[in-house]
Amino acid sequence: MPPDSYTLAGTDVSVPLLGVGTWAWGDRSTWGMGGYDAGLTRESIREAWEASIDAGATFFDTAEVYGKGESERIIGSLLAADPVRAASAVIATKFMPSPWKLNVRGALLASVRASLDRLGLPSVALYQIHGPISLRSQGALAEALAAAHQAGLVKAVGVSNYSAREMRSMSAALRRNGMELVTNQIEFSLLRRGPETSGLLAACRDLGVLPLAYSPIGQGRLTGKYSAANPPPGKRTFSDHPMALVDAVVAELRRIGDRYGGKTPSQVALNWVIAKGVLPIPGAKNRPQAEENAGALGWSIDDEDLARLDAAALAGTRTLQGRIWQHG
Ligand SMILES: NC(=O)c1ccc[n+]([C@@H]2O[C@H](COP(=O)([O-])OP(=O)(O)OC[C@H]3O[C@@H](n4cnc5c(N)ncnc54)[C@H](OP(=O)(O)O)[C@@H]3O)[C@@H](O)[C@H]2O)c1
Repeated sequence: MPPDSYTLAGTDVSVPLLGVGTWAWGDRSTWGMGGYDAGLTRESIREAWEASIDAGATFFDTAEVYGKGESERIIGSLLAADPVRAASAVIATKFMPSPWKLNVRGALLASVRASLDRLGLPSVALYQIHGPISLRSQGALAEALAAAHQAGLVKAVGVSNYSAREMRSMSAALRRNGMELVTNQIEFSLLRRGPETSGLLAACRDLGVLPLAYSPIGQGRLTGKYSAANPPPGKRTFSDHPMALVDAVVAELRRIGDRYGGKTPSQVALNWVIAKGVLPIPGAKNRPQAEENAGALGWSIDDEDLARLDAAALAGTRTLQGRIWQHG
């Protein structure tokens, strides 16, 4: 059984078992705001925000690159307009350590200050290195993160798209600076079970690192609304298996959901991630999506059905490092 919540190591910040990803908020090229998705508006986002917090999904993940800062700006305006819900919101954002940022300490401190300015916050709960793409050492990145922490700008620090080896190296470097590595945000879902079978999740447990699952419903593919006959729009290149393979996974999700009183494919897919001790951060564009995703909380799949889902899951084939360039 998963716990009721997680505490970010070394802080008093508590996060729920389910979060919300906000890449789509303000993003045009992948998620179609102001483009192919006319239903994705400031109003639909406000409703997603409200429904998520009201259902207990109070952890929001953004990044400086999402919509070129627009996702952070939108969250900033939601926080400012809604102080009651803002009081329970826990915000995480990310630094993109592009190879040309050779003065990584200066670049990271400038980035976190710009993010805080867009968010309208004095500090963020969690600040993450977006991917292992810096030309500087983990030691240099760790020193930069520690400087942001010492300046009171970030409460805890994490990474994203790190392998077990990279994570161990960053964890050791942070410990030399008196800090803990708290999270590693990775692609993990029934369409990308690789991190479990490769030992990455076990390495997280060994190091006391909480894994966060991005694209946990396969960029919409595990919701059941897409199929081989109706593939998802936009350039959603995570989890992009042939839809015929995805359809078989969704069929298993439906069979299992029926056994739990009509849980939807998304809810079963998210519940499976939670059962693995991983915190999923599904994107939600509107109230119905946020409410449906929050329905992954408060119940558990039994061991037999977990095994059925393990058997139906796809490993995922691509390496993450090559892909960070294409994605926020
Ligand atoms: N660190 C990284 O490198 C990285 C990479 C990717 C993502 N992320 C983070 O992880 C978050 C989640 O990943 P993601 O957005 O790529 O994929 P996802 O959460 O698997 O899928 C989100 C999309 O699925 C659809 N959807 C969501 N809930 C639904 C529901 N209940 N019913 C029907 N459709 C639903 C929506 O798109 P449509 O309605 O248009 O189908 C939504 O935008 C991101 O927002 C971001 O914060 C991080």
